Amino acid sequence: METIPEAPHAAGAEHRSRELEERIAAEPGAFRVLTGDRPTGPLHLGHYFGTLANRVRLQRAGVDLFVLVADYQVLTDRDVADRLPEHVEGLIADHLAAGVDPSSATIFRHSAVPALNQLMLPFLSLVSVAELQRNPTVKDEIAASRQTSVSGLMFTYPVHQAADILFCKANLVPVGKDQLPHQEITRTIARRFNERYGPVFPVPDALLSAAPNLLGTDGRKMSKSRGNAIALSAGPDETARLIRRAVTDGDRYIAYAPETRPQVSNLVLLAALCQDRDPHDVAAGIGDGGATALKKVVTDSVNEFLRPIRARRAELAADRTYLRRVLAEGNERANAVADRTLDEVRTAMGC
Ligand code: TRP
Repeated sequence: METIPEAPHAAGAEHRSRELEERIAAEPGAFRVLTGDRPTGPLHLGHYFGTLANRVRLQRAGVDLFVLVADYQVLTDRDVADRLPEHVEGLIADHLAAGVDPSSATIFRHSAVPALNQLMLPFLSLVSVAELQRNPTVKDEIAASRQTSVSGLMFTYPVHQAADILFCKANLVPVGKDQLPHQEITRTIARRFNERYGPVFPVPDALLSAAPNLLGTDGRKMSKSRGNAIALSAGPDETARLIRRAVTDGDRYIAYAPETRPQVSNLVLLAALCQDRDPHDVAAGIGDGGATALKKVVTDSVNEFLRPIRARRAELAADRTYLRRVLAEGNERANAVADRTLDEVRTAMGC
């Protein structure tokens, strides 16, 4: 797998992403994508439209997809890994229900791939404490965590993430804009390793997602812990209840105007994404029906859209043996890849 020539500067990330999309369309086999999530709860519609649908799209386009269940990373922001086995299996079910094909994707977990984690040691030697301290994503992580002190694992989290990406020599990482500084550390580590010990790693590109930013039913960031998220696994009644409680405004006329009417527009956007239509058209269709009409359209659209995904997910969740087998096979593939990379690293470093 060859390394793609570098973008001239980080500010060109959006332009770069458009360029990458063209190359993916032309030569999907030249790309290996690594993405991952922490197994902390069921995936919701924000995940689906933000990243999950994109993973399925990339896989169907022919790129080699690695999906990490980041179980060790759960330890960065929690004292205890609550109901971990259940969340790991749920995460796999969410991916398969959304359309990820496990016969060609490699779905694996941190804790099952020792050679991946061992890469963290040489990688730690390639970054300075000051660089980690400056990293805005680490600062955000620290601010978001409700812990009273910063653990060494939290502090070195981007280095662990570099190991996640580089162990399989992924050259493409789909990210949101907020993750760009993070991704820069992975690129720095790859470059420094190659300069010091010889060419082993590709310098992976960030692929910015074109997905619009979907908020929770209260107009804030969609997140399970805020109770404003519609899980893929939620039933139609729970969906209706969440949308009934959604925050709107006093204007009966429904419009799509994210700047001035963020809550109403977010609901319109949700319906539009589910119907695969333009949000302005969806809003025009509701007209002066007010919040009641809007919420009915949103509830029906979400439930209609999720029906097949939920049906597949329910079947998968009932077959835990199958889910465990998918993970075991993914772990095995990931281990083979990680062992090979670690061998190359040892040879390059002479230790
Ligand atoms: N940090 C990501 C999250 O919290 C999960 C993750 C771990 C990841 N390693 C990764 C994402 C590597 C992309 C690439 O959701």
